[in-house]
Amino acid sequence: MKYIRLILIKLLTWFFEFVYPIENKKVFSKNMKRAVNLYADGGFDGLFAKIRMWDAPYKEIEKMVPKKGIVVDLGSGDGLLSNYLAIESTQRKVIGFENNKERVKRAEKGLKNTIFKEADILNVDFPKAECFLLIHVFHHLSKKSDQKKLLLKIRKSIKGSLIVAEISEKPFLKFIFSVFTDFLIVPILFGEKLVDTNVHYRKDKEWRKLFTECGFEVKRVSFPHRGMPFSHVLYECRKSS
Ligand SMILES: C[S@@+](CC[C@H](N)C(=O)[O-])C[C@H]1O[C@@H](n2cnc3c(N)ncnc32)[C@H](O)[C@@H]1O
Repeated sequence: MKYIRLILIKLLTWFFEFVYPIENKKVFSKNMKRAVNLYADGGFDGLFAKIRMWDAPYKEIEKMVPKKGIVVDLGSGDGLLSNYLAIESTQRKVIGFENNKERVKRAEKGLKNTIFKEADILNVDFPKAECFLLIHVFHHLSKKSDQKKLLLKIRKSIKGSLIVAEISEKPFLKFIFSVFTDFLIVPILFGEKLVDTNVHYRKDKEWRKLFTECGFEVKRVSFPHRGMPFSHVLYECRKSS
């Protein structure tokens, strides 16, 4: 397993250095660069931070997050988004919850307005917060039924908005590429296994139904993703009265 992971990392490094250099493909703002540079180790963490900043809709998410108050990043991974949000506004206090101990360690970059905690988001108590984030996390929960459980739990602690990034079933080819990544690449890089088929996507209609059933009003936020490989979709949810 260790060798397969090393080979994959070599291939990704080669691809993003020589075939498709990220710096030439997307303009990073000063603060995006500052966040990415926190991970610059000359190794895979640095490259992965660049890939994630390039590919994920972090810039769009940042615009949707309040500039002040408590922001809870659920399944915060390596903490790149949390750290970026904290850099963009020091009046935000960003709390990341993540159940992978190694990723929690990688997330801690010493920014005063961030805290990262190792925890299972289905069982930990949440603080009251202006904003909750679930960025590519719902489909990685162990059971599909946990998606509803988690939404009902968030509803009790939310003061403002819940921002969800998920994988969209359209465009089809981008969806297939996202499936390939979640089933094969993510488990090798982060899960110490070769394949993971325990991934729970939903179609747009099903997401909207789930959010509504759990007491949220939902708005789909569109953003430009021409030329990008994954089929991201963004939702902004607020408690319905
Ligand atoms: C695809 S990654 C996304 C990470 C991050 N949100 C980002 O934007 O890069 C999904 C993360 O959710 C975490 N995760 C999945 N289930 C979890 C749970 N029950 N409690 C805490 N974290 C969880 C995984 O360990 C992983 O780091």
